[in-house]
Amino acid sequence: MKIIDGKQISAALKADVAAQVASFPALYGRVPHLVVIRVGEDPASVVYVRNKAKACELTGIRNTTIVLPEDTPEAALLDRIRSLNADEGVDGILVQLPLPRHISEAKVIESISREKDVDGFHPLNVAGLWQKTPHLEPCTPKGIMQLLKATGVDPCGKRAVVIGRSNIVGLPTAKMLLDANATVTLCHTRTKDLAAITRQAEILVVAAGKAKMISGDMVSEGVVVIDVGMDRDPDTGKLCGDVDFDSVAPKAAAITPVPGGVGPMTIACLMQNTVLCFKDRVSKKA
Ligand code: GUN
Repeated sequence: MKIIDGKQISAALKADVAAQVASFPALYGRVPHLVVIRVGEDPASVVYVRNKAKACELTGIRNTTIVLPEDTPEAALLDRIRSLNADEGVDGILVQLPLPRHISEAKVIESISREKDVDGFHPLNVAGLWQKTPHLEPCTPKGIMQLLKATGVDPCGKRAVVIGRSNIVGLPTAKMLLDANATVTLCHTRTKDLAAITRQAEILVVAAGKAKMISGDMVSEGVVVIDVGMDRDPDTGKLCGDVDFDSVAPKAAAITPVPGGVGPMTIACLMQNTVLCFKDRVSKKA
């Protein structure tokens, strides 16, 4: 069994981004600039946004973090995004989700210029994914595909099972696996006899948000397991994944740990997307 070391793989990707960024001042007169907006004090979001700023520091990407109060009116946030869209010195805009209940996530996502949409959540980027036209890819699914590649797992012809149908992870991951020629089954909360399906998986991606829901008896020998969960173990209170690592790992050919698997890859892909947005913008200007 191989533990897929997301920390190590993401460090290599970030080093590659840093090398590119180091060449930009001479080529383009500046470095990429990512603006991250957090509304309110959701504890997980505070940590995620801090980690994004740290990755920017490491890669040489300029970062501005904007923190707005929980009661920020939707119109004020949309105004803020509009001015960032128009700002020539800003390459990427990310609004950390979830947002307070009085703000429409759909409206906010749609308001971000598609060229600066480093999350790949804008409807035009989503359409690009499903129609195979140029688009920015969402960071977590992009990170999952890069983890598989770095592990030497080619999805072509394999049975891939994805659990979870969110816009952020499950749906785009299923589509990307399909585009990599896997045979994909997408499962969710209403799926009947989940174990019968997961036992058929050669690649299993779990993004259900339910602590340790996949146990060893639900997988077959030789499965490659990608655990997107960021849960609290109800017994110990510790961070854990959607996969019960101790019972699944002995049967798996390869498996991601939590933490240290998918999480760091998401951030590395955000850095990659910021560089893509920057390059796209500087090349259009030239
Ligand atoms: N909240 C959880 N995951 C994400 C993500 O990938 N992007 C944003 N903006 N918010 C998130």
